[in-house]
Amino acid sequence: MPLDLANTSPIGPKAPFADLPSDLDKYLKDIQGNILKSHGRDHSQHLFVQFTDPAKAKKWLVSMAGRVTSASKQWNDSLQRRKIFAEAEKQPNPAAWREAQLAQQASGIFINVLLSKKGYDKLGMPAGQIPQDAAFVRGAQNEETISRLGDPPVTAPAGHDQWEAEFQQDMHALVIVADDSPGKVAEEAERIGNEVGKSGGKIAHREIGTVLRYGENGPVREHFGFVDGVSNPLFYAADVEKVKPVGGIRYDPSAPLGLVLVKDPGGDKETGYGSYFVYRKLEQNVAQFNHDRFVLATAIAQADGREAANEADKELAGAYMVGRFRDGAPVVKFASENGGGEEIPNNFDYETDPNGDKCPFQAHIRKTNPRNETGSPRERDARIIRRAISFERGGKVGLLFLCAQSSIQSQFEFMQKSWCNDPKFLRPEVKPTPTGMDTGLDPVVGQGEAAEQEWPKKHGEDERIKATLKQPVMMKGGEYFFMPSLSFLKKAGA
Ligand code: HEM
Repeated sequence: MPLDLANTSPIGPKAPFADLPSDLDKYLKDIQGNILKSHGRDHSQHLFVQFTDPAKAKKWLVSMAGRVTSASKQWNDSLQRRKIFAEAEKQPNPAAWREAQLAQQASGIFINVLLSKKGYDKLGMPAGQIPQDAAFVRGAQNEETISRLGDPPVTAPAGHDQWEAEFQQDMHALVIVADDSPGKVAEEAERIGNEVGKSGGKIAHREIGTVLRYGENGPVREHFGFVDGVSNPLFYAADVEKVKPVGGIRYDPSAPLGLVLVKDPGGDKETGYGSYFVYRKLEQNVAQFNHDRFVLATAIAQADGREAANEADKELAGAYMVGRFRDGAPVVKFASENGGGEEIPNNFDYETDPNGDKCPFQAHIRKTNPRNETGSPRERDARIIRRAISFERGGKVGLLFLCAQSSIQSQFEFMQKSWCNDPKFLRPEVKPTPTGMDTGLDPVVGQGEAAEQEWPKKHGEDERIKATLKQPVMMKGGEYFFMPSLSFLKKAGA
């Protein structure tokens, strides 16, 4: 029986320490990890592979089948880790006991293998085994893709924005290696690089990702300083249970498997499923973001009769741009930082803020996830599953943006093009703004002409101020990939 992709009930046991039922486990043994749940490791390397000898490269793919982390292994590894953490609390010296137990655990290194359309073609895979999402088939370097997304061109005359030279090449496969120890990641990446070199391919490029934390051991943040990775669609009942609110549900984070999984045309007829991944190297211009934040904060201060912006104005300005304060507190619910406490709130929508008096319509999280606002099923169907990690290299910083979905065209591309880049979204398409002015670009990732935008003069009040911000995030290159099933990898050489 195939998996029921339309079923809206989350999968697996609700209890955090339970084993997977065997009728689900047989599928999860064939699906790669990191799709239905983030691998959660702090360090990773992304190895971009170019195939030179297809016959040898197919054998290499087969050899990787045994190394890739399946969703089933990911579940069992985290189960074991959680048991150790819980057991440690009963010991006289919990930290020492925990460390000793974790050290004895078999290597938890996390590995994913993905292929681009160019990769499938280079390997000479039969058409019937190649995933057919329209955007995946086009690829990220394709002119239509670039014009849809408003991306810079792959190559341009000197002095104009273009992709980094490494991303101007063809990328056939992507290997993700992740662990909490950067040393282990480097060792494994080295080993894989050597194997690829002897097996009909080469590592054409490598990116190194490192998780940033908000405070010591705090939640994940990104380079502008904001807590990140909070709101994502959830597929496992245990994950949904963990965030279940005490009161009523305002925003339901659960999602059917069909939001992220598709049948892998090259995989096992019954158990083979995969997912499409978008990869984008997004450079963050922190000075530009802080300048924008300062421009907006100064406008807030001056509208209040003060000449210069204070810290509170700057915090509020940042929250207007992102939709959350730096500590994750949503600006639709809180007027200042530290509203969050231990659990960063995610059970909210914008019903109490129909005119954008608290959270501007253009705020990054309101553009990318309009919660119960448009009345269209598209809202929930366009959700993406974010798996990004930060980078820092040669004085440049940013996000190695990765997201999973079942259709790149109707999810990531739709979100970037029709929401982030469309000055008319969220309003007036649904309901005109009080002044009838366009809401403008997403101030974090919108790509297009900078224009004046309206912002609440005071949090929660209907008067507006105006400020024009510039684009702080630049696309530096990327590709579209498919994360195939293990059953495909096992017989890729056949
Ligand atoms: C460097 C680039 C980016 C930065 C700095 C950034 C930052 C953030 C932050 C701080 C949050 C709030 C915390 C959270 O809910 O996890 C967030 C949420 C989100 N971002 Fe981004 N982001 C970036 C790129 C993108 C892109 C390219 C997209 C898609 C086009 C995107 C889609 C989303 C979505 C869907 C959410 C969750 C919204 C919600 O459910 O409330 N982000 N991002």
